[in-house]
Amino acid sequence: MKRIGVLTSGGDAPGMNAGILAAVKVAMARGAGVVGIERGYDGVIEGAFRPLTRHTADGLAPISEIERAGGRGGTMLGSSRSPRFREPEGRATAADKLRDAEIEGLIVLGGNGSLTGAHLLTVETGFPVIGIPASIDNDLGCTSDAIGVDSALNTIIDACDKISDTARSHHRAFIVEVMGRDSGYLAMVSAVALAADAALLPEENLGEAEVIDRVEAIVRSGARPDRQKPRILIIKAEGVPVPATRLVREVSERLVDLDVDLRATVLGHIVRGGNPTAHDRLLAGRFAFAAVGSLMAGATDVMTAWRPAVDGGTETADSSVRLFPLDEILAETTHLLDGSSPVTQARLSRMRAAQGVLGL
Ligand code: F6P
Repeated sequence: MKRIGVLTSGGDAPGMNAGILAAVKVAMARGAGVVGIERGYDGVIEGAFRPLTRHTADGLAPISEIERAGGRGGTMLGSSRSPRFREPEGRATAADKLRDAEIEGLIVLGGNGSLTGAHLLTVETGFPVIGIPASIDNDLGCTSDAIGVDSALNTIIDACDKISDTARSHHRAFIVEVMGRDSGYLAMVSAVALAADAALLPEENLGEAEVIDRVEAIVRSGARPDRQKPRILIIKAEGVPVPATRLVREVSERLVDLDVDLRATVLGHIVRGGNPTAHDRLLAGRFAFAAVGSLMAGATDVMTAWRPAVDGGTETADSSVRLFPLDEILAETTHLLDGSSPVTQARLSRMRAAQGVLGL
């Protein structure tokens, strides 16, 4: 393989740039040039390609933009959620554009929707594609980690530490909503790391009335005169279908007998921004190393997965990274999100045990 393409798709994730940089360097070391594709799958359909490697007296080198961007958040290539690529015609055009540009294989960094697109592209057109999991939601099957998750968690913790400073100064209760789409992973892990009072997760499938009752009970317990917690913090996952502001209004109306002030903060896209942590840069580098080597060795329709202590899939040159077929990943992702996966069940039971302790 003499030329491979790289694109980032779906919601950006801190560490995508580190993954692009690593893919470029690993490909160069194996004598292949790398073409960057702008704005995800929209850019493939439009042929928005630009070289990420250049020729020097010694051989290939990365373009300087990518060396500057390597440690930064976001994605230097841009991203999109492409409605055109959801259609077979869009994918056929994309494969033609890639072949016209003499690109022989493609690396896709993205989440659930992006990897669905990668799978369909390779199945329908025969174009070789390898996925790298990059999504703050950590909702992908077969992998215990994805690029961006650790950075998002650190951002949430930093923001909630700041909120806690002001909450303690006024003895306030806060509901903080964090991103994650239909996955409660970020809410669950950050609640434990922050010693918050509770996490509200979509996987629990609570109705609105149950969510309101639960928040009331948590705030009452923390604010009662013989307990008087200096700060009450509830982490709410975005996927719990009750807006944080409505929750505050409904619960506050029930707490008139208590001297407690309940507020809401929605962290929103702050969670997705910022420079990647060391962990995410390293994860991106190791995924890119495995992905480029496997793609050049003929693998396609697979994703790199972080599996340090688990078997399954196919091994790569990195003992912690294994390859799993994209259709298996996508099927397990569906089970993770609908609650039927043993991984989700185990997370929920750990969370139930943790909730008992967090509430104390
Ligand atoms: O999938 C990543 C994510 O940040 C989700 O957590 C969130 O629900 C969604 O993307 C937001 O997407 P957008 O930036 O398109 O509104």
